[in-house]
Parts: sequence; C-alpha cells; structure tokens
Amino acid sequence: MTPQAHLFLLGLAAAGQAARQPEGFKDAFFGCRGNETAPEQLHFNYAGDRGMTISWNTAAKLQFPTVRYGRGPLLDRIAFSEVSVTYPTSSTYSNHVFIDGLEPDTEYGFAVHCADEKDRHQFKTSLPAGHRRPYTFAFIADLGTMGPLGLTDNGQKDALSPGEITTMQSLSQFKDQFEFMWHDGDLAYADDWLNEELDGFLPNTTTKGGAAVYEAILNAFYNEMAVNVTMDRPYMVGPGNHEANCDNGGAGSYTDSICVQGQTNFTGFRNHFRMPAEQSGGVENFWYSWDYGMVHFVQFNTETDFPNAPGIPGGSGEENAGPFAPNGTQIEWLKKDLASVDRKKTPWIIVAGHRPWYVDDTMCDSCQAAFEPILLEYGVDIALFGHKHFYERLAPIADGVPDPKGLNDPSAPWYLVNGAAGHYEGLSTPNTPLQNYTVKAIDTVYGWSRFTVHNCTHITQDFIGESPDAISFETQHHC
Ligand SMILES: *[C@@H]1O[C@H](CO)[C@@H](O)[C@H](O)[C@H]1NC(C)=O
Ligand SMILES: *[C@@H]1O[C@H](CO)[C@@H](O)[C@H](O)[C@H]1NC(C)=O
Ligand SMILES: *[C@@H]1O[C@H](CO)[C@@H](O)[C@H](O)[C@H]1NC(C)=O
Ligand SMILES: *[C@@H]1O[C@H](CO)[C@@H](O)[C@H](O)[C@H]1NC(C)=O
Ligand SMILES: *[C@@H]1O[C@H](CO)[C@@H](O)[C@H](O)[C@H]1NC(C)=O
Ligand SMILES: *[C@@H]1O[C@H](CO)[C@@H](O)[C@H](O)[C@H]1NC(C)=O
Ligand SMILES: *[C@@H]1O[C@H](CO)[C@@H](O)[C@H](O)[C@H]1NC(C)=O
Ligand SMILES: [Fe+2]
Repeated sequence: MTPQAHLFLLGLAAAGQAARQPEGFKDAFFGCRGNETAPEQLHFNYAGDRGMTISWNTAAKLQFPTVRYGRGPLLDRIAFSEVSVTYPTSSTYSNHVFIDGLEPDTEYGFAVHCADEKDRHQFKTSLPAGHRRPYTFAFIADLGTMGPLGLTDNGQKDALSPGEITTMQSLSQFKDQFEFMWHDGDLAYADDWLNEELDGFLPNTTTKGGAAVYEAILNAFYNEMAVNVTMDRPYMVGPGNHEANCDNGGAGSYTDSICVQGQTNFTGFRNHFRMPAEQSGGVENFWYSWDYGMVHFVQFNTETDFPNAPGIPGGSGEENAGPFAPNGTQIEWLKKDLASVDRKKTPWIIVAGHRPWYVDDTMCDSCQAAFEPILLEYGVDIALFGHKHFYERLAPIADGVPDPKGLNDPSAPWYLVNGAAGHYEGLSTPNTPLQNYTVKAIDTVYGWSRFTVHNCTHITQDFIGESPDAISFETQHHC
C-alpha cells in the first residue's frame, strides 16, 4: 500500500467514527486546499478534567475543523466542530475543536485538519484535582512579537543584545520541565503597529494599511509561539489592555479612527482562544478557573466587568471595551468559584489578573477595591500580575501592609508582578524609593517565572532571565 493510500484509509476509518456526521463532513474532511487550509498558529488548552481544546488558524474558513487523535501510534479517533471564526479585517480564520472524554494525565498524539502526515504533535491531559504529583508551570505576561515586526537586536529601546535569547526561546529550551504555560495578558503587542510605523521601524507600510500591519504582527506572534512552545504545551491566557488598547502604544498621531478592528473590544483575542469558561462557569477568555493537581487556578479580568474598571468606555485604559456579561457577573462568579474550592483536594489557590494594585508604579485602585477583599476572604495563596514591564517580587500583603511572617506561612496572598517577557516597547523602571512591601525588583533583563508545586506545604518560584531570582513559599496550614 502506498503511504497515501494508507493515510486515506486511516482517515476514512477515523471519519467513519465521527458520531452523527453532518452532511458534507466527508467532503470537507478530505477537501484540503493547499495554502487555504494549511494549519498555522497551533495551540491548545485544558477544558475540564477530561477535555482539551485544540485551536489553529487557516487562510480559509473550514466547514468542519477536525482533529484526529489517539493514544497509540494510530490517530484512530476524531473530533470536529463547526467553529471557524473571523472578523472583517483578519487575514485568517480561528478554528477550535473541543475534545472530551480523554483519560486524565495521559499523552495523546494528534494532527489537525489538513496537517501534513508528518505534522503530528502531542498533548498531555490535565492532572486530576487532588493528585499529589509535583509539577512545574510557566508564568508569563506582556510578551510581544519577536523579530522584524517586534523586538529585535537592532538598536530599539532595550533591544536584545546580539545573540541574547528571547523569552520565547527560553520557554522553548525549558519546555521539557513545565507542564503548561499561563500568559496573563498582553499578547503580541500588535496594537503597537502605528507606533512602529511612526518610528520608521516598519518601512513600506502606511497608516491606511494599518489593519494588514496589525494582522501581520498578530500572525507572526502566534506562529513564533506555536513553533517555540504552544504546539507542545497547553497555553492558558487571560485578557490584558493590549488586547483592546486603541491608543496604539501612545503613538503621536493617534485618533480613534486609526484603531483597527482586531484591537477593538478584544476582537482578535476573543477569536483566537476558547478558554475553559464553560467548564468553570466563567465568561469566554475573560474569567475562568481550572484545577491541576494540588492547585486551583483562577484567571480574572482587570480590564472590564467590575466597578470603575480601567478598560470600559470612558475608563483610564483607552480600551473602550466590554462589558462581557451583566453588571456584577464577574465578582459574583469569583466569590462563588473560590467558595467552592475543596482545599483538601486542591490545597493551593493561585490567581492571576493583568493589572497589579501593589507595584512601584501606577496602581490599579479600582482593581484593588474590587478584588483584594475577595482574595483575602477566601484565603488565596498567590496572586500574579503583569502589565508593568519589569519584575517585582513583593511580600504577602493585606490592605497595603506586608505580612510580618513573609513567605513563611503568611495569612495574606503573596504578590508577584512579572511583565518582563519582552516586546517592542522594551522594559520600564519602577518608581523609587520602592514601597516597603517590595522585596526584589529587576528591570534590566527579560524573563519569565517558573513555578514548582512541590507538595501541600511548598511552592517555589524562579525568575528565569539573565538576573535570576528565586523564592520558596511555605505554608503549614494546607495539609
Ligand atoms: C502557498 O503560498 C506560497 C507563498 O505565497 C506560494 O509560493 C505557493 O505556491 C502556495 N502553494 C499553494 C499550494 O497554493
Ligand atoms: C521597501 O521598499 C523598497 C522599494 O520598493 C525596497 O527597495 C525595500 O527593500 C523595501 N524594504 C523592506 C524592508 O521591505
Ligand atoms: C522562536 O521564537 C523566535 C523569537 O524568539 C523566532 O525568531 C523563531 O522563529 C521561533 N521559532 C523557532 C523554531 O525558533
Ligand atoms: C464589546 O463586545 C461585547 C460582546 O459582544 C458587547 O456586548 C459590548 O457592547 C462591546 N463593547 C463595546 C464598547 O463595543
Ligand atoms: C453595577 O452594580 C454596582 C453594584 O451593585 C452599582 O454600584 C453600579 O452602579 C452598577 N453599574 C451599572 C453600569 O449599572
Ligand atoms: C509600610 O507602609 C505602609 C503604608 O505606607 C504602612 O502602613 C506600614 O506600617 C509600613 N511598614 C510596615 C513594616 O508594614
Ligand atoms: C515539600 O517540598 C519541600 C521542597 O521540595 C521539601 O523541602 C519538604 O520536605 C516537602 N515536605 C513534605 C511534607 O514532603
Ligand atoms: Fe498591560
């Protein structure tokens, strides 16, 4: 049998299993059309204890985005959807397929629709809540496009030094160590397109052609991420202001009319991802939670959907976005989600929001008013943030006062700000003197945070960058 014939039969067998195959499914399944259906920007994320959502982009709309998967060498099972979405100025469609009924903590091979037969990847399903196996995850925020459309070693502010590895490459090098990656807002920085253009950084582009430039930067980012890490490790994301900013990175000639569709109201971000909101009672990619072994993880939204949120129309954030649910929904959800955590199963609670309220820079006071009392009330252990383009390790803090116990069994959440992953705008500098709750600030190197969940008493964090920093967080009351 020729390899093609073999592939055809395998595909046919897989296609034959699709429950309640809709009309036209087989034609769509076998109807690959070269560049139009070639997959790019591959990524995937947890979706419930037994689920995984696989996402990728194509130039053309797919009638039935399909994923073949299996535990052995044969990808003998199939899942499909009808979710192939776009918006008017996009150059691609985002395809999403939810696979359910998987074995937990198990590796599967998979190939998306119209991938080359060689182009197989693997995902590992999530570790069930309560499982005590230690593990590591990667935390990043404020990571933009690298290369000629973003951060380079070519003379821009905080340019990479020649040969310096980027955060993406560092993640790629370390990916055998971590089980998933969590990106807490500000992805790609494609909204910087006008800034880049006005700086003369993007020759041969015009403001009129902004939508195409925006999409080019966005596509470059997701492709760079795919090849370096997201085609191999689950990618959990949350909303940051750069998913909706219309001030184009503070570009001089900014007017609202220059804002292109992908960057308005989280349009590109909403298309590109399907975070597990349905499984956790949350809303889209904006707020949701998931369990992984000993930890309950929560992504919340500091941009919209709470009183005086910075990203709402008329807010301070130039985002003019949201709301994404009726007034009060996010806050009510957060309380309910945290109240329902079984601390015997998942002793740790780690939350992340994009804008910090404890930091040596502009603080998000409305975020603090909305969220801090809830984090304190429900005994959240660790609160992670980005947005500021540096690393600041803070103390555990309650109402502005550092917990005297430090990292040794504190009663307040421990705070970390790490928005130092790198992008076109470079790094920024904290205000001095530093607040008395700031323990360590690093503002001269790019990097990311590696967290290791050891057991019910210990979690460690390492800043992976040219100036490392490491801590060990300890509790006694979790076991
Ligand atoms: C795909 O696109 C590339 C670059 O635009 C082009 O050279 C190639 O011929 C295209 N291939 C197909 C099958 O359309
Ligand atoms: C910009 O356009 C000019 C003229 O067509 C061309 O010579 C140059 O290579 C282009 N630069 C880039 C970076 O594409
Ligand atoms: C990985 O990311 C870098 C940017 O850091 C990018 O230049 C490169 O193309 C990506 N892919 C690979 C295979 O390195
Ligand atoms: C943003 O999108 C949401 C969801 O479609 C919509 O309800 C809301 O009105 C939009 N906000 C703005 C400012 O356009
Ligand atoms: C949303 O609810 C809060 C609290 O109940 C209230 O203070 C606020 O005015 C409401 N906002 C809107 C836009 O209705
Ligand atoms: C730290 O600063 C806060 C607010 O400025 C203050 O309340 C507190 O007493 C200071 N010192 C310590 C050790 O908490
Ligand atoms: C928990 O992990 C830490 C760090 O690896 C270790 O020092 C400690 O002994 C462990 N505790 C238990 C009860 O296993
Ligand atoms: Fe931000």
